[in-house]
Amino acid sequence: MRIVFITGSGRTNGNTERVCNLIQGHLQRLAAEAGAGLEIERISLGKAHLDMCRGCRICFDRGEEHCPLSDDLAGIKASMLAADGLVAATPVYVDDVSGLTKNWIDRLAHVCHRPEFAGRCAYLVATVGGSPTRHTLDTLTLALSVWGYHIIGRAGFKTGARMDTAEIQSRFDAQAEKIARQLFTAIRERRYARPSFRSLMTFKIQQMAWAGHQDDSVDLQYWRSRGWIDPRRDYYIPQQSGRVKTTLARLAGALLAPFVS
Ligand SMILES: Cc1cc2nc3c(=O)[nH]c(=O)nc-3n(C[C@H](O)[C@H](O)[C@H](O)COP(=O)(O)O)c2cc1C
Repeated sequence: MRIVFITGSGRTNGNTERVCNLIQGHLQRLAAEAGAGLEIERISLGKAHLDMCRGCRICFDRGEEHCPLSDDLAGIKASMLAADGLVAATPVYVDDVSGLTKNWIDRLAHVCHRPEFAGRCAYLVATVGGSPTRHTLDTLTLALSVWGYHIIGRAGFKTGARMDTAEIQSRFDAQAEKIARQLFTAIRERRYARPSFRSLMTFKIQQMAWAGHQDDSVDLQYWRSRGWIDPRRDYYIPQQSGRVKTTLARLAGALLAPFVS
């Protein structure tokens, strides 16, 4: 099992990093107890070289390999693709994700059209001074679910500004243990193969939208190459949700498609 942590703080060993340290420790313990192999990679967006998206649309129109920016994005994306699970963690900045996190999301916007991360689980984490984390976690949820991730859960940590490590440990260790357990179990049980009603419905809406395109765009080529345009396909990956749920979700998607695409 391979899990990558992506943290969106510019502060070295800040609250977000230290909450992730707790989650990482529990993942390692769970893997050792289960006799399972576990590789963990930590990526700090504060240390990575990721230029701001210029909005040129080249990734959408010609493919991400033609992006004029030459930096760490391809390596970060390769790490995400190589992992079974992702912990995406951000500090809350003015009621939303940090700028570092938003730029990472924007730089991967082409994945919204070509959901490459299907078959992988994600857990979403936000640390905050004191205000609610809902809007921040909604931003992460929207992006990562459109990218194809199966969202296992989301958690907010009210760390204040400068909580010391001992207090972070005593206050949040139980929550970190729960997150680690949920993510570890979800990956082992291949929960990504049991998508939600909403995910199945969204796939059907996208499928109908792309099937109606006449152009020869990079997006459409990608959908064709994956076999996703085939009306018999019910999800990005082979999935094991119940037949009734799948049928109803596809029906709902087909009914909604003309109104949302
Ligand atoms: C630019 C900036 C904006 C922030 N905005 C908020 C906010 O809207 N609400 C809040 O409760 N805390 C806010 N905070 C506090 C951080 O969310 C909180 O301290 C977080 O845990 C910092 O994580 P870090 O140490 O990993 O950078 C802000 C901090 C900064 C630096």
